[in-house]
Amino acid sequence: MDYVTLNNGIKMPMVGLGVFRVKDQKECEEMVYQAIKLGYRLIDTAAAYENEEAVGRAIKRSSVPREDLFITTKLWVTDTNYERAKKGFQRSLDRLGLDYIDLYLIHQPYNDYYGAWRALEELYREGKVQAIGVDNFQQDRLIDFISFIDIKPAVNLIEANVFFQREEELLVMKNKNIQMEAWSPFAAGENKLFTNELLQKLSIKYQKSVAQIVLRWLYQRGIVSIPKSSNPERMKENIDIFGFEITREDMNAIAHLDTSQSCFPTRTKANEVEEFLENAKKFQV
Ligand SMILES: NC(=O)c1ccc[n+]([C@@H]2O[C@H](COP(=O)([O-])OP(=O)(O)OC[C@H]3O[C@@H](n4cnc5c(N)ncnc54)[C@H](OP(=O)(O)O)[C@@H]3O)[C@@H](O)[C@H]2O)c1
Repeated sequence: MDYVTLNNGIKMPMVGLGVFRVKDQKECEEMVYQAIKLGYRLIDTAAAYENEEAVGRAIKRSSVPREDLFITTKLWVTDTNYERAKKGFQRSLDRLGLDYIDLYLIHQPYNDYYGAWRALEELYREGKVQAIGVDNFQQDRLIDFISFIDIKPAVNLIEANVFFQREEELLVMKNKNIQMEAWSPFAAGENKLFTNELLQKLSIKYQKSVAQIVLRWLYQRGIVSIPKSSNPERMKENIDIFGFEITREDMNAIAHLDTSQSCFPTRTKANEVEEFLENAKKFQV
């Protein structure tokens, strides 16, 4: 596994396992257990994924020392204010059965994220979390945010894949020394990613799977990724990306797949945000 050093000196694995949409607790526990056995060290969960307990059980079952693991979880929208953030954090900690979190993120840029950040800064100073960061902060909001807080986020987790490459966001984060992390690195299979003609051509050329080409391309851009897979063979494949290099010419060819559009429904309109927040309130976090 390759690591990146965050802006506070903490080392973060360049590839991890995401467990979004894995609601079946047994499946989630087994998946995380297998992943750790295969060499994964970064696990990405969230209070809103409703599977922190399963992740915690897998961690306990694994024989890997706690300090070798890098566990990320996230504060949900309804807890995003100063008063509720610490309680939300403690609930996540209890469900995971851990006494510290490696990376704690504000899951969405809604509600009182400045207040929540002050609570996260306190948790960080108390040593309950190794690094704090944000999730889904677009560049305008990120710049506004970091202009009025004490501790700069170590990470910003955003959607990034071959169809939505986020080169400008990446440059902004590099400039500000904030690590970019990619969610849905395979676009969750949207836009027929795995049968894309160019990616298949490169797969044959490099004798690597399409998934490995995609994850290697993110890695070469300096982006941490958290692919989801419940299949041990594919999990193995997804962390085996460090032994080859995509040429500059092929990196540029992949750049042409960018549509500058999210692969998922966006929330730029009032009614879209309203609907999202209505649903967000239903989560039992
Ligand atoms: N913070 C946020 O707002 C946010 C939003 C979305 C996602 N995320 C995080 O990002 C993680 C990953 O995103 P995602 O779950 O949306 O999707 P993804 O990782 O882009 O894609 C997952 C899909 O790809 C398949 N797959 C995985 N490896 C493969 C391989 N080597 N070959 C062929 N197919 C493969 C999986 O099927 P199998 O399982 O059958 O292998 C699954 O259908 C999430 O789990 C979550 O942790 C965060």
